[in-house]
Amino acid sequence: MSRANVLLLLSGSIAAYKACTVISRLAQAGVTVQTVATPAALRFVGAATLEGLSGRPVFSNLWEEGRALDHIEHARAADLALLCPATANTINRLAAGLADDPVGALFLAWELKQKPWWIAPAMNHHMWQHPATTASLAKLRDWGVRVLDPVDGPHACGEDGAGRLMDPEAIAAEVLAALPK
Ligand SMILES: Cc1cc2nc3c(=O)[nH]c(=O)nc-3n(C[C@H](O)[C@H](O)[C@H](O)COP(=O)(O)O)c2cc1C
Repeated sequence: MSRANVLLLLSGSIAAYKACTVISRLAQAGVTVQTVATPAALRFVGAATLEGLSGRPVFSNLWEEGRALDHIEHARAADLALLCPATANTINRLAAGLADDPVGALFLAWELKQKPWWIAPAMNHHMWQHPATTASLAKLRDWGVRVLDPVDGPHACGEDGAGRLMDPEAIAAEVLAALPK
């Protein structure tokens, strides 16, 4: 059983339900999973699901009473952060260094040179190929972020192309392999 800590951050993609598989696999392996969700992510999966799978309340509001320093404490405690699914919007926000929500604040509080921050993008293929997204991903990679590249395939919108979230079982396996034993 693992004793590692993972910060699992969700943004608002139709693929958010697949992150539940990742959380479940990590929790089954003994990993402590702290979930973080944008307001849009909580429109796709409920806080009760995230709490039920991880055994901990989701962190989704920087201003919640009693949780004022959570963005620093969660960044300190975790061995690895995984933004899954990563929307175009949140990728662009992180690349701009915006910290007015829990995901952005945690990213800026994270010691990028010391601990892995991974992102698993999921989006329509036009969003994936847009120069704004491409430029932001290049910036994040340059800062040391690992991108778990999406795959080709059908999208929920009916179109086909690159941008489908990598297989959640494979994502969980990659995370487990990277964690301290
Ligand atoms: C049904 C639906 C599905 C969506 N799926 C995606 C998606 O897979 N990837 C993406 O980048 N944006 C997607 N969006 C758009 C985002 O939800 C929107 O840009 C939102 O502002 C993202 O906020 P967040 O990045 O703070 O979570 C979707 C929107 C809707 C209504």
